[in-house]
Amino acid sequence: MIKPLARLLALISIGFTISANAEKFEKDWHTYSNYTDVVSTHVVLDLDINFETKQLKGSIEHHLEYKHKGVQTLILDTRDLDIHKVEAFRAGVWSDTSFKLAERDDVKGSKLTIVLPRMTKRVKVHYNSRPEASGLQWLSPVQTAGKKLPFMFSQSQAIHARSWLPIQDTPAMRVSYEAKIHTAKNLRPIMSAKNDPKWNENGDYYFEMPQPIPTYLIAIAAGNIHYKKMSKQTAIYSEPELLDAAAAEFEDTQAMIDATEKMYGKYRWTDYDLLILPPSFPFGGMENPRLSFITPTVIAGDKSLVSLIAHELAHSWSGNLVTNATWRDLWLNEGFTSYVENRIMEEVFGKDRAVMEQALAYQGLKEELVDLPKADTILHVVIEGRDPDDAFSGVPYTKGQLFLMFLEERFGRDVFDSFLKQYFDDHAFGSIDTRSFTKYIKTNLIDKHSGKVSMAEVKEWITEPMLPANSPRPTSDVFTKVKTHMSSWLSNDTKLSKVPTKNWTVHEWLFFINNLPKDISLKRLNQLDTQFNLTQSTNNEIAHAWLLLNIKRNNPVINTRLADYMITIGRRKLIVPLYKALLETESKRSFTQEIYNKARPGYHPLAQGTIDALFVAKK
Ligand code: BES
Ligand code: ZN
Repeated sequence: MIKPLARLLALISIGFTISANAEKFEKDWHTYSNYTDVVSTHVVLDLDINFETKQLKGSIEHHLEYKHKGVQTLILDTRDLDIHKVEAFRAGVWSDTSFKLAERDDVKGSKLTIVLPRMTKRVKVHYNSRPEASGLQWLSPVQTAGKKLPFMFSQSQAIHARSWLPIQDTPAMRVSYEAKIHTAKNLRPIMSAKNDPKWNENGDYYFEMPQPIPTYLIAIAAGNIHYKKMSKQTAIYSEPELLDAAAAEFEDTQAMIDATEKMYGKYRWTDYDLLILPPSFPFGGMENPRLSFITPTVIAGDKSLVSLIAHELAHSWSGNLVTNATWRDLWLNEGFTSYVENRIMEEVFGKDRAVMEQALAYQGLKEELVDLPKADTILHVVIEGRDPDDAFSGVPYTKGQLFLMFLEERFGRDVFDSFLKQYFDDHAFGSIDTRSFTKYIKTNLIDKHSGKVSMAEVKEWITEPMLPANSPRPTSDVFTKVKTHMSSWLSNDTKLSKVPTKNWTVHEWLFFINNLPKDISLKRLNQLDTQFNLTQSTNNEIAHAWLLLNIKRNNPVINTRLADYMITIGRRKLIVPLYKALLETESKRSFTQEIYNKARPGYHPLAQGTIDALFVAKK
């Protein structure tokens, strides 16, 4: 009698968790996987990295946890994978099981349906990725710093893990993983996992990521990758040519960790290392756990661009510890991270710099808001049916950050900090969507300190387009001075040589260039260039701002430098606006096409996709 009763109770309680779960999160539109039926909680990778064929080849084993009875299939996400065979493990033996790979959807890829014999606890998929995998880039030796050996790396966020791993590719779920990776002897792999700084003689490496992470954080790279320790928890991995410069540039990383721990609680991932990639890396950075992937374009020689490190580090709390449940909720990752990033910068580099960075971001957002479709200026954006990459903008970042700055302003820093710390603790190693966040903030902040912020205000921030009237509008006193000098030069009251630029920081230069009149004359532009040699600036952000302005003003003086910049750098944020501006003018099309023909083979598939689309749109 006891047995059936216990089973009944178990069923009821399972039923309860499922319905509670289903109710908890909105469905992730971007996955085919049946994660509400059966969850892959741990994966074991066994992969060979083949640089000749540009393929990963091997197997992935899934350890399964059933959410209810009677589940007969496991559905995984894939894109452009060749599936060789699938095995199921039960009663101590592996045996083949049948599977079906559906037709490819442009956004989601191909659904892989695997038949689960009863009681299957583990499933192993044998497969290979294809050279065109959207989540991998294969670099030839000339694209590296050393020029002698090839390099490869993954970029899985948002939905590219499925192009190199057949997996339940949703940020609503988490897996721990282990991996056996084989490469050529002179090329070393590393992963977003525990890394052993030593090279192995035989090309066999073993990795382990014991903490459960969403699949978009599974990452791999391989190349002539060397190691330099910076501090107790931090180190650089990169080609040997960049090791010293990177270690000097990013030497404050430990101080950043210490500062964040003080504000928001313990760093839960043991070590925090940086992998410096070749310049075609399409992003500034990617917060792969234990090992952020970083563009070399921020190694400026003066630490002026290290807010990028603060940003990727901040994701160790907002994003990696507490994860957006769907890609509609990206602002919960990026807005929180931009806010925490700025707090770290304030702690480590002081208030002036932090405020300048706020002001630059705010200006950037305001310009972006003018061009974006209204619907895309909403934090809780609708992206059903769209590729999350296409909906990408400054909105989740800077509007999200401004929302948190608004809350900080109203509640005071102490109250808001302890709320945030509690939020990270309460959701650690879990996901959250916008709806659950709204409930959480109501209970834990709004109602607790009533009279400061209304739920109507919260909802306006989250669900309405553009910026609310009560938005913070950061301005910097340092920039106000720059503006005064600029104005008196422009009105001929001061000579350019008298403008006190000697001690200007990179931020002041960026503000200066970005705020020059949109119709500035070529004469003035060239005067600036003669005086300050801006076209040749080795700071990639300054060069970007300057080149962009000169493209818009049709100044041909920059053309050689421009071509060189666009051919050597593959970071989307730096090059896409340049292509956009160039394609605005029909007469520049062939010049632009010529540059792109040279540059395209060196770009990441993601950057190629974005820029291809620009050429098509402007036809
Ligand atoms: N996680 C993002 C990169 C990302 C976002 C990749 C969405 C794919 C989809 C990363 O943390 C990031 O935000 N990088 C920024 C840098 C930052 C300082 C704004 C970048 O790459 O420019
Ligand atoms: Zn980010």
